[in-house]
Amino acid sequence: MTHPWNGKSAIVTGAASGIGAATAEMLARKGMNVVLSDIQPGPLAACAARLQEEGLRVAHRQCDVSDPDLVKALADFAQDTFGNIHLSFNNAGVAMHGVPMHEMQLGDWRWVSEVNIQSVVNAIHHILPRMIRHGEPALFLNTASIGGLQVNPNWLTGAYSMTKFAVVALSEGLENELKSTNVRVAVLCPSAVATNLSDAHTRPERLGGATERPQQAFLREAIARVGVSPAYVAQRIWRAMEDGEFYILTDASAQPVIEARHRRIEAALARAAEYRSSAGD
Ligand SMILES: NC(=O)c1ccc[n+]([C@@H]2O[C@H](COP(=O)([O-])OP(=O)(O)OC[C@H]3O[C@@H](n4cnc5c(N)ncnc54)[C@H](O)[C@@H]3O)[C@@H](O)[C@H]2O)c1
Repeated sequence: MTHPWNGKSAIVTGAASGIGAATAEMLARKGMNVVLSDIQPGPLAACAARLQEEGLRVAHRQCDVSDPDLVKALADFAQDTFGNIHLSFNNAGVAMHGVPMHEMQLGDWRWVSEVNIQSVVNAIHHILPRMIRHGEPALFLNTASIGGLQVNPNWLTGAYSMTKFAVVALSEGLENELKSTNVRVAVLCPSAVATNLSDAHTRPERLGGATERPQQAFLREAIARVGVSPAYVAQRIWRAMEDGEFYILTDASAQPVIEARHRRIEAALARAAEYRSSAGD
């Protein structure tokens, strides 16, 4: 039986490496037309060429997802190449671990915000309306992180988590707003995945240029040691696409921290209710 996604078209950002590369490959193998996109032209072209050599229907387009004009050009390219866009996998992102927030450079604040948050806003503005307009079943899939549901107490991830909480909030808001449309929304919240996330040297010149961040060495070691493979995440995404999941998690290791956070919020709600009734206002 032909799968409903067979012959449909996808855009995958951050497709030159890690989760994006594995998912682009998985989608192409499932019979989708896939536009791979990334800020790094060399690795991007190599990924696309490898899949094309196998006869898979892929194309590629360089794009810095933090730039709205380039995201519009990416959407135009995808539409011109494969027609209607049925899956927008808004996945490109950068890490910002290991540095206390009061020591962060302003360029890094802007970089992590623009790549991780503004990228999704740009896709909402330039890709999503096209998906609503064509009316066929479609999925707007954002990559947040398990760090979008909790702030890791050990990894100095405040700034990164800020961006990923924003992606979860955008996704929840979109899910509400799009209920009566053809577009479903989902948010990927992976725990550690063994990728190149700690090695990004793509900070643009206007924000200070490429930089080594030695504080992130622990992240490289940790995700290599405990992370699942990008291919595992790609298969997990496919299962979630079939089952219509909204929050897509890759394991339950963060459960104690997330539950502890929820218990604090519930306790704060209880205190607020008690105060309200005792204040009698
Ligand atoms: N690896 C993990 O443990 C982990 C966990 C949770 C969430 N994530 C998220 O998964 C997503 C993918 O990351 P990954 O782990 O595969 O890392 P990765 O570094 O292997 O891949 C990310 C890709 O995004 C690209 N990219 C960076 N800035 C870009 C920009 N401005 N425009 C376009 N492309 C850009 C990079 O060139 C790279 O190819 C990110 O959003 C990341 O925050 C990763």
